[in-house]
Amino acid sequence: YEAQLDLNDIEKGTYPYYMLKEINDQPTVMRRIVKEYTKQNGSVVIEPEIVEKIKASDRVYIIACGTSYNAGWVGKALIEKMAQIPVEVHLSSEFGYNMPLLSKNPFFIFLSQSGETADSRQVLVQTNRLGYPSLTLTNVAGSTLSREADYTLLLLAGPEIAVASTKAYTAQIAVLAIVAKAIGDASGNEQSEKFDIAHELSVIASIMETIIDEKATIDQLVTEYLSDTRNAFYIGRGVDYYVSMEASLKLKEISYIQAEGFAAGELKHGTIALIEKGTPVFGVITDKKTAAHTRGNLKEVESRGAHNFVISLASLSKESDQLVLPDVHSLLTPLVSVVPTQLIAYFATLQRGYDVDKPRNLAKSVTVE
Ligand code: G6P
Repeated sequence: YEAQLDLNDIEKGTYPYYMLKEINDQPTVMRRIVKEYTKQNGSVVIEPEIVEKIKASDRVYIIACGTSYNAGWVGKALIEKMAQIPVEVHLSSEFGYNMPLLSKNPFFIFLSQSGETADSRQVLVQTNRLGYPSLTLTNVAGSTLSREADYTLLLLAGPEIAVASTKAYTAQIAVLAIVAKAIGDASGNEQSEKFDIAHELSVIASIMETIIDEKATIDQLVTEYLSDTRNAFYIGRGVDYYVSMEASLKLKEISYIQAEGFAAGELKHGTIALIEKGTPVFGVITDKKTAAHTRGNLKEVESRGAHNFVISLASLSKESDQLVLPDVHSLLTPLVSVVPTQLIAYFATLQRGYDVDKPRNLAKSVTVE
């Protein structure tokens, strides 16, 4: 794919910031992943040896930092549901120095947009020494983590230049879904065989476009909710919690609003003490099983003065919700629910007058431990 890169990939063109360009690139990236990783008949194309190795393992360990770590949690949900293999997700910087007791036949997946993150590399050096099989999902062919792992799958997101990662996150989830389906299909898992991933990702690409087209509405809502706040919370359960972690990371990285992503049910066990009159709380609701519970948690914070902002799927929505997203396959909702949160972070930053692409104290690729 690298050979096909053209200037459109690395230039902002008419976009004011790389981040906005990269948010906009996401539908194209979804379609590219469909094209490269699926066949006309709906099956997925992953090197059979990768599938066999993961299938033969008794536990998958996902190792990553930052946004890639947040994508790893969604990957866990996908692999466990479709491939029926237990998955653990670990921060590289913790895992390397406090390695947990491993299963008998572990398989390691390294997630890294840049493929150069030193914290992740030091884990790979150790797992290589121990002789464990590994796969790197990266956006950069020939990167260190790609060269040193047994296998590589490319994210095909095109260069990501803004420090705050957007399209690499959604590409990681899409490629992890492809991997999960490949293992599930090879194991004869019915849910996996029924999962028409090419179709679902194509639908998602169009929905992403619709959400991006609504950006003026998001800009206005940001003025209403985030203009005079020092802090904010994102809450959700299951995959909605994982998206909340990523949404809050994005917001704090670039707008410097102190933001936390919380498991909705856990908020009342401590963090609810921080809710004051006007504190913005964003609820992410895309999962039928937990929607009513998360709404209950939103009521709890509202009665303590929170200014609630609900992002929901159409089939679970209420009239009072601030952003309602079209329904998508239940395993892939993060691919759509994360998009408005990227735009929320983007507009909050612009409105505060900060540099969207180059936040203070952060680097795109961190090559020190
Ligand atoms: C840096 C970046 C983050 C990124 C993290 C992991 O801290 O600022 O945006 O998520 O590294 O990067 P990687 O390239 O390994 O995905």
